[in-house]
Amino acid sequence: MVSIPVSQFDDNSVVTVQIEGQEVVVFKIEEDYFALNNRCSHAEASLSEGEVYDCKVECPLHGAEFDLKTGEPLTLPATKPVKVYDVLLQNDQLIIQDKHA
Ligand code: FES
Repeated sequence: MVSIPVSQFDDNSVVTVQIEGQEVVVFKIEEDYFALNNRCSHAEASLSEGEVYDCKVECPLHGAEFDLKTGEPLTLPATKPVKVYDVLLQNDQLIIQDKHA
């Protein structure tokens, strides 16, 4: 689990954090936050460098799209989901934690 001050986010910004040895990317889209493992499930690419639209992120390397809420792949070449994390807002801190915590 990590906490990030909400003040670190501008509108539609992207922040990466480490959680238990995994790099996690947090996207702010309007007033919503989404946290996913930063590594594409297809190969070695960082989703933090991808384009975000319609609650999806497009991998910058081969273009697979992932649902920001579920981590499920929506287009090829990715066929496996990326892990998503719970995001809680508490007292101007964003708490990012494992879904099973
Ligand atoms: S590395 Fe992301 S689609 Fe290939």
